[in-house]
Amino acid sequence: MYFFFFCLCFHFKGFIMLLHCPGRPHAELGTTPNIKHIVVGRCYNYITLINPGLRCDCENIWKQFEGAVVRQSPCNVTVKDYHLMFYAMAQTWPPPCNRFLFWSKTRTLVHSYVAALRHFWTLEDTMAGYIFNDLMWCFDFGSCPEWSACKHHPVYSLWQQASQNFAEMACGNITVLLNGSIANAFNRKSMFGSVELDSLNPCNVDYVNIKVVTNLEGPLIESCNQGSVVDLIHILQIRGFRWTCTDNDQ
Ligand SMILES: *[C@@H]1O[C@H](CO)[C@@H](O)[C@H](O)[C@H]1NC(C)=O
Ligand SMILES: *[C@@H]1O[C@H](CO)[C@@H](O)[C@H](O)[C@H]1NC(C)=O
Ligand SMILES: *[C@@H]1O[C@H](CO)[C@@H](O)[C@H](O)[C@H]1NC(C)=O
Repeated sequence: MYFFFFCLCFHFKGFIMLLHCPGRPHAELGTTPNIKHIVVGRCYNYITLINPGLRCDCENIWKQFEGAVVRQSPCNVTVKDYHLMFYAMAQTWPPPCNRFLFWSKTRTLVHSYVAALRHFWTLEDTMAGYIFNDLMWCFDFGSCPEWSACKHHPVYSLWQQASQNFAEMACGNITVLLNGSIANAFNRKSMFGSVELDSLNPCNVDYVNIKVVTNLEGPLIESCNQGSVVDLIHILQIRGFRWTCTDNDQ
């Protein structure tokens, strides 16, 4: 309860303060304030400073995004509704082979080692990932339903398509970072387990290099030959991927 109010207080001070709430955006807060300015601003930032040379119409991307979400009820926005928006966005070409990084339940690690991981390319480095990172929307500025309460949550559907596009582009050696300090490090219901893994193309991917990282202070629950990571390796083998797996602490 305290936590809820903590976030709610800062809600009114705008987006920057919202970032202090850890983890995924909180559905009970409703659509991120100033979302239009954030989306259009990040879009210009991306095509001007991050990936100069991309030619995209940022106002049109917003228009397609709004069109996808506004027409629908808050629990009925499907992947398909975003197709025009993704069509208006650039894919990076050529894809940065050998640098793709997939992560699941290792957000803390990825965010604390941003500098060390700079070499890698994550979903948040794609145009869609960059623009919508940490945002919440459902076009009710008061409150949005939880992901789990919806058949087709507008936020979930967008990330589903963005993750699929990202995984389909993957090539060369790819790296998968899993959290060995929790049970089900590899979870079939996670975005990696349910969307990205199935979208990887064995003809374009040379090696899937899995790294299981555990917290320094433990616990050590899963590893390359223990727990759900074994299931992941099994799936990779069936689909004909070459793979390696290493256990290491932070
Ligand atoms: C969900 O959207 C589809 C079309 O996108 C529409 O046919 C259907 O009636 C909608 N369902 C609800 C419950 O709003
Ligand atoms: C693993 O998950 C736990 C529990 O969610 C989290 O506290 C920890 O920071 C994660 N470890 C890494 C390496 O991200
Ligand atoms: C790809 O991974 C394999 C296995 O880890 C390694 O032998 C190879 O050198 C890697 N290739 C590149 C280009 O990093």
